Amino acid sequence: MKTELELKSMVREKYASIAKNPSQGGCCDSSCDGIEYSFIGEEYSDKNGYVADADLGLGCGLPTEFAKIKPGDTVVDLGSGAGNDCFIARAETGPEGKVIGLDFTPEMIDRARKNADKMGFKNVTFFEGEIDKNPLDDAIADVVVSNCVFNLIPNRHRAFAETFRIIKPGGHFSISDVIIVGEIPLELRDEAELYAGCVSGALEKSDYLKIIESVGFKNIKIQKEKQIEIPENILNQFLTPEKSELWKASKVGIFSMTFYAEKPKDESCCKPGCCN
Ligand SMILES: C[S@@+](CC[C@H](N)C(=O)[O-])C[C@H]1O[C@@H](n2cnc3c(N)ncnc32)[C@H](O)[C@@H]1O
Repeated sequence: MKTELELKSMVREKYASIAKNPSQGGCCDSSCDGIEYSFIGEEYSDKNGYVADADLGLGCGLPTEFAKIKPGDTVVDLGSGAGNDCFIARAETGPEGKVIGLDFTPEMIDRARKNADKMGFKNVTFFEGEIDKNPLDDAIADVVVSNCVFNLIPNRHRAFAETFRIIKPGGHFSISDVIIVGEIPLELRDEAELYAGCVSGALEKSDYLKIIESVGFKNIKIQKEKQIEIPENILNQFLTPEKSELWKASKVGIFSMTFYAEKPKDESCCKPGCCN
């Protein structure tokens, strides 16, 4: 069992290497064990604000599409990579708003800053730091977005608690992530997760929702979900033909989901039925 520190440094190394050599795409390094990474993200190229150099194909959703960003908003993107979602968000905040990207991989921050400089954007800034020990001030964000990052953070509870802290009362988040629905057969679990993003540690949907609720968020919704199909060759490698058929017929699986939740306007009024 790896420690939190070891897991984080594995993740940081992986994304440092992708930032230095983006053509290697989502996959990755020796931790992939030869399993091909699937492209599970959404098509971004037709989106307003799209910056091709910022799109390293690392997302698993399109959180900005659901994030209800308004002109003038301050948006924080957690795990901002090369800035892909930040630039889409900027197209919605306009020049009078502000977009802040946070990422703990210096090579990604470097790439993102170069992209912002190239575009001449003065209101998109990137900070190096950890999501679960977030260096940003309390109540700084109208909207938080994040794309395919929380599954990489060993302590999800702390990450969501910090997210709650940085959102303004009455603000909200839209977060896309890799999620497990049901119980994946033990012999397939690691490989299925590797396929979905070279990580071990995606949470089951109900556990994920419980964490979001436990830190104080209200009005929690799933805005989009899409199953990530595990290819036959991986199923056949790890499951008997009978188990493979059972798997295909079941509702169990790995999904990309986009979650939405709000921080109440008045935190002192958080009794059921009274919270806004
Ligand atoms: C799958 S990539 C997604 C990047 C970006 N959101 C996108 O869609 O292009 C995950 C990113 O999260 C960052 N990351 C992972 N764990 C983190 C943590 N605990 N704190 C801050 N950043 C983290 C990685 O450095 C990497 O850039």
